[in-house]
Amino acid sequence: MPARTTSDVLVIGGGIIGLVTAWRAAQRGLATTVADPSPGGGAAQVAAGMLAAVTELHHGEQALLALNLASAQRYPDFAAELSEAAGQALGHRVCGTLAVALDADDRAELRELHLLQQRSGLDSQWLSGRECRRLEPMLAPGVRGGLRVDGDHQIDPRRLAAALVTACERAGVTFHRQRAVRLTVTGERARGAVLDDGTALSAGQVVLAAGSLSGRLAGVPAHVLPPVRPVKGQVLRLRMPPGRTPFLGRTVRAVVRGSSVYLVPRESGELVVGATSEELGWDTTVTAGGVYSLLRDAHELVPGLSELPLTETRAGLRPGSPDNAPLLGPTALPGLHLATGHYRNGVLLTPVTGDAMAHALTTGDLPDAVRPFAPTRFVQPEPHTARDRQNHDSGHTQQEQQEQQEEQTV
Ligand code: GLY
Repeated sequence: MPARTTSDVLVIGGGIIGLVTAWRAAQRGLATTVADPSPGGGAAQVAAGMLAAVTELHHGEQALLALNLASAQRYPDFAAELSEAAGQALGHRVCGTLAVALDADDRAELRELHLLQQRSGLDSQWLSGRECRRLEPMLAPGVRGGLRVDGDHQIDPRRLAAALVTACERAGVTFHRQRAVRLTVTGERARGAVLDDGTALSAGQVVLAAGSLSGRLAGVPAHVLPPVRPVKGQVLRLRMPPGRTPFLGRTVRAVVRGSSVYLVPRESGELVVGATSEELGWDTTVTAGGVYSLLRDAHELVPGLSELPLTETRAGLRPGSPDNAPLLGPTALPGLHLATGHYRNGVLLTPVTGDAMAHALTTGDLPDAVRPFAPTRFVQPEPHTARDRQNHDSGHTQQEQQEQQEEQTV
């Protein structure tokens, strides 16, 4: 039977954010379609899966903290429900996190983070270097102190993505394993999308959830095009030795000479070491420099790590937004929603995103707690000039328009 081409909801992008949106929409009785050449792929295949609302707190991100905490709180029930729906384990580990400092500068930075956490009413405990090593004996003798955060856990994003694909299939979601190349807009409303094999999909509502690619879909009028950009992260995978004493019992992280490094030990024996943060456009090359700096910093933290087999090196693209927070819900173009821009927190924000998007798709509005993340906070000016209107009508992307302008000025 040919796959359905008309639905209530069309989700463009089948990464974890698109999939959770589709799953939750289908659970609410909406006929839902996902367009993606490789559902379950994307940044989740690279991500470490830290659920680190407290240890990844940054100055100026208090609004995002509330959303991160709301999602962290949902994780146990979400993971149990998804695991049951898909019949698959997700590698959800309630293991806590230890953030440590190696030198005086690192320690000052960690003290600052501790103060911010305390001011934000978060649970974290300052430990001496000796206490850190008692908790994690593989830590380097030079560790000067650390923050114990028992509420920051982890999940395996690859398992999460696979389970979401299965849960969607079981909930009746239709998959078109093609890339959406153009949004269809007629009569000032989003009506569907055209796929790269020419198939036209139509839908009552369209959700653009294409991660870092969300700002590149042709046909999206400039004033609602999401301002997301790719932020490259290189990540390594190593294998820990089997045995009764774990190599590491919890996530260990640090800022080493200004660069953030984290080590995420999975129950399966995988040890994920991440991540670089590079503004290099669409480049996903794994570089000698990236691997070197991760291994150098990780080795300073946990010297025994250099004995472990290195099993994988990979780079992915985080969908960065101007305020590091996601864009969720209806846009100024009727029929078009966004679920993108999750930047460093896509895995953590998966549960709250699914719930918020299902709410938006069924009621037309966002839950109160998610309103600060409405895409309309980045409203682009409406097209005014004749050429803007021409681009708007022809559906050129912002990037295509910029390239055209550059060509015309050189
Ligand atoms: N949240 C971890 C990262 O983006 O590297």
